[in-house]
Amino acid sequence: MTRDAGGREGIDPALLRRAEQRFAEQFGAPAPRLAVAPGRVNLIGEHTDYNDGFVLPMAIGRCTAIAFRPRADRRLRAHAVAFGETKELELGALAPPGGSDWLSYVAGVAWALAEDGLEFPGLDAVVDGDVPIGAGMSSCASLELAAARAFAAAGGLPWDAVRMAKLGQKAENRYVGMNCGLMDQFAAAVSRPGCALLLDCRSLAAEPVPVPAGAAVVVMDTGARRALAGSAYNDRRSACEAAVAALKALDPGIRALRDVSAELLERGAPRLDPIVLKRARHVVPENLRPREMADTLRAGDLARAGRLMNDSHASLRDLYEVSCAELDLLTDLARAQPGCYGARMTGAGFGGCAVALVREGEVAAFGSAVLAAYRAKVDLKAAWFACRPMAGARLLD
Ligand code: GLA
Repeated sequence: MTRDAGGREGIDPALLRRAEQRFAEQFGAPAPRLAVAPGRVNLIGEHTDYNDGFVLPMAIGRCTAIAFRPRADRRLRAHAVAFGETKELELGALAPPGGSDWLSYVAGVAWALAEDGLEFPGLDAVVDGDVPIGAGMSSCASLELAAARAFAAAGGLPWDAVRMAKLGQKAENRYVGMNCGLMDQFAAAVSRPGCALLLDCRSLAAEPVPVPAGAAVVVMDTGARRALAGSAYNDRRSACEAAVAALKALDPGIRALRDVSAELLERGAPRLDPIVLKRARHVVPENLRPREMADTLRAGDLARAGRLMNDSHASLRDLYEVSCAELDLLTDLARAQPGCYGARMTGAGFGGCAVALVREGEVAAFGSAVLAAYRAKVDLKAAWFACRPMAGARLLD
């Protein structure tokens, strides 16, 4: 069995202890194995992955942990600590569409692995984690990849991180019904410690991008969650497809918004529905930002990196319309702090988290000042934490 670098470093030991302890309580014996997969923060390149574009995510220390024991049959018996629920199902009887509860993500992965010809037994499992749920930090992809790692280990299967990322996405698209791109699963599967990943979502070429010394990546959770985020996300994706269909009249070679230049988009503007045009006017320039950000970070130009983040946020707020009042407020408050280079929402949007690039040494003062100012205006469970780039899905036994 392949073991990835990364180990337990950066993971809260209390989380791993709790998962193992719950396993013993639920299943009457210590868990022989532990699989983890990280959440991620996307530094820039938002809503570009399903346009075949570029993204710059970074895996973080917050993760989903699955304590598990292979079974002799093909049943899945799983307990989710966050929901206090134990559920069971037969892995041989899965067919999409499933539901969208926590178990469906695990079942969807089992379905996608089996569809791809992989064989593995059932599991007794405890699912635990400290990625904020539904907050734009990719709790779903971390659950999918931790589950994939557990099923693969139980079946003695070789670990092919890119293949597993694609199967995680297939589970979410087909089994859960969320039409996400590949960014989150790729970050949760493929990341290496110490670097963000500049990913080309068409070729799947990924380049490591170090976060320069002198800067810290700080995540700020608005505490706001939007119930209808899934349908609004799928709507945005349809708008991008509509833009491509209309622009093909001008250039039949384009396959995705990634292939559209600003010039072509403006020439095609009269052919597009006004909302579709607005959405495309976000995606086309946003798709240039991850490569520019990677160059900027490599050059250590933190002021410019911050400006790119601010521009990305404005575009997501005004053109793609996936921000919300809480994200706008939190990023404004962050930018007003002296140690802040820039801030933007991260992930799908409609609530959830924002990310800021902050001068090293000023992180604690930054976090408490932003949180205090936010709490003075908004009565939600807001939080912040600094993060370092971590490894993708791995076994910890
Ligand atoms: C969610 C999806 C990703 C990506 C982002 C927006 O996190 O899962 O595939 O589209 O939203 O950038």
